[in-house]
Order: sequence, then C-alpha cells, then structure tokens
Amino acid sequence: MTGTMQDGIARVLVSEETLQQRVRELGAQITADYRGKKPFFLGVLKGCFVFMADLIRCVDLPCSLDFMVLSSYGGGTSTSGAVEIRKDLTRDIAGMDVIIVEDIIDSGITLHYLREYLSRRNPASIHIVTLLNKPECRRTEIEPDYSGFTIPDAFVVGYGLDYAEEYRNLPYIGVLKPEVYEK
Ligand code: IMP
Ligand code: MG
Repeated sequence: MTGTMQDGIARVLVSEETLQQRVRELGAQITADYRGKKPFFLGVLKGCFVFMADLIRCVDLPCSLDFMVLSSYGGGTSTSGAVEIRKDLTRDIAGMDVIIVEDIIDSGITLHYLREYLSRRNPASIHIVTLLNKPECRRTEIEPDYSGFTIPDAFVVGYGLDYAEEYRNLPYIGVLKPEVYEK
C-alpha cells in the first residue's frame, strides 16, 4: 500500500504559521529597504517557487521578476560542486536592483557562482534573500542579506524544497527520515 507524504517526515522543523509570519516580516523589511526603488526578484528554480510566491505578495513596491534554473545537485543530498545554468535570464538586468531569491543556502556554491555571473551584467545592486540558511555547511564566503531561518545541518524538505523531486508540496519545513535517502 502507498503511504502518505508525511510518512517520510521525521519531524516538523518550521510550521506553516511560523513560515507565514516570518515571510511577512521579510516582505516588510524589503519594502522598507527598497523604498523608492523597483526591485527585480530573481528566483532560483525550482526550490524558490513557493517562498517567492508568498514573499512578493508581502512586498508593497512596484517590482518585476524572472527565474533561472541552476543545477549542482543531481538526485542526492549533497552537492557535486559543479554549477550548470539550465535556464538563463530572459531580460537585461543592467542598472536593476536584483534580489536573488533562494530556498536554502547550504555550501553556498550555487549562489557564489550566480552572484559572479550576475555581477558581470552590471546591475545597480545584488542582494540575496534565502528562506533557510545552513551556515555550518558553508564552503564559500556567501552570506544572505535577508534570511528567514538559520537551521542545523539536516536535510529538509517542504515549502518548495524537494528530495528527488518529491515533498515540494508539503506546507511546512520538515526533516526527512534518514531511511528515505539511505534506501
Ligand atoms: P548549495 O549550492 O550547496 O548552497 O545548495 C543550494 C541548493 O541545494 C539549494 O538551492 C537547494 O536546492 C539544495 N539543497 C541544499 N540543502 C538542501 C536541503 O536540506 N533540502 C533540499 N534541498 C537542499
Ligand atoms: Mg535551490
């Protein structure tokens, strides 16, 4: 018999209510910091999609957005170290105030690469907002300008984050049972 999605979850790390509250705070902070500007939100797919959809609705400013697809992971739970652009920007970002939207910063390798790549296109500014931050796992000097939650080194899923493309629809952030990926 097929179980439910919740069967793979060891525990809830960040509840739905706590997520919504923190996303509202981040939106209010960005609204205050970018007053008089028109930020350009650049989402890193696919993990950002739930967070970004909620975040931009908490930003009370004229803004635009686009997405990129980057890949460094494959199907496993640890980074391979190499970053590949699978979908690039569809517009020129010269002179724009770019806010990169990430689901989670782990090694920082993806964002380090992306920030270098974007800076060569002469935006007015580049800042980073991440829902989750795992500082213990960092292998580059990337730090987010806005971070929702600092979390320990555990593999988490939900609210857009996946394991092998599943669990993105979980409405909270959960810790995956090790037996799910040790199988
Ligand atoms: P980094 O390049 O190591 O910082 O990894 C960035 C990407 O790896 C994130 O945008 C996620 O897509 C993925 N990732 C890292 N840690 C986790 C996790 O705990 N759960 C799900 N995806 C993760
Ligand atoms: Mg990601």
